[in-house]
Amino acid sequence: MKQALERIEQAAKKELSEIRDSKELEALRIKFLGKKGDLSAIMKDMAKLSAEERPVIGQIANKVRTDISEAIEKRAEELKAAASELKLKEERLDVTLPGRAPKLGKLHPLDSVMREIEDIFIGMGFDIASGPEVEYDYYNFEALNLPPDHPARDTQDTFYISDKILLRTQTSPIQVRVMEKKKPPIRIVAPGRVYRSDAVDATHSPLFHQIEGLVVDKGITMTDLVGISKMFIERLYGENLKIRLRPHHFPFTEPSAEVDMECFNCGGKGCSMCKGEGYIELWGSGMVHPKVLRNCGIDPEEYSGFAFGMGLERLVMRKYGITDLRLLYENDLRFLEQF
Ligand code: DAH
Repeated sequence: MKQALERIEQAAKKELSEIRDSKELEALRIKFLGKKGDLSAIMKDMAKLSAEERPVIGQIANKVRTDISEAIEKRAEELKAAASELKLKEERLDVTLPGRAPKLGKLHPLDSVMREIEDIFIGMGFDIASGPEVEYDYYNFEALNLPPDHPARDTQDTFYISDKILLRTQTSPIQVRVMEKKKPPIRIVAPGRVYRSDAVDATHSPLFHQIEGLVVDKGITMTDLVGISKMFIERLYGENLKIRLRPHHFPFTEPSAEVDMECFNCGGKGCSMCKGEGYIELWGSGMVHPKVLRNCGIDPEEYSGFAFGMGLERLVMRKYGITDLRLLYENDLRFLEQF
């Protein structure tokens, strides 16, 4: 029996040295020390021993049990240490390595220029206003004094949703919405998307952006429009460029004018940017028509105002020398990454 016990101890120690994880270790513990294990099996035979032999073998058996237990314990510690060392190694971080910079997105040129323009107007004391893109015919046309037979109302130019509802063709309806709600003094700019039923080409898109401006107060005259135009151009281009007013017609302003600015590229001499004109169109504008003021509940005898509206795409294209409008909408990273 003594030999059998010694064999068990040896076998246990040998197997123990080959153990690789705690699962195997637990299986080994059950195999040797468990209730149905090798050691227990031998102990059952203790009864057959003589009274003198029993305590001797009992002692040896106890020692074998303790030895195996301790050896298992020791192996468990070793496995734990090895595992945590491995973990440390795997998670090692070399803080001296150069960092991996995350790829940063940036604003689309239409957004960055729009924000630049908004900032300029905010700096001149304007508020930013907005209105719905799905608009009533009333706000887009009727309140702005566009008669029912006006060519802009043609279904060929305007996306109609129903008889009375359409996609706004201009940001001018925001003027009406602002004047209905707020009494003068009013000083707002309203940027936004507008829609016209145009086929896509290098200079046309069914969706584009406008920025509308409106100032209404007592004693506002055309001179104020000239002053704001000059100030805006100076802040946007950083130069004191001349402006010129060309008579024009808009149903919602009287008188109306197209404001042109001296070409920032050639200084008025004439170049490809201004098509030899020396001047570039800035925006459509004029003195708010008395009928429009009245439609919004503002007395034209007491108040007057000017308004203007400009296209964002053309401004952005000029600023960056872009010759095809479609590039602004195609989301081609090779194009967008240049800004
Ligand atoms: N809404 C006009 C357009 O789309 C632009 C415009 C002209 C706006 C004169 C105005 C204005 O506010 O007074 O062509």
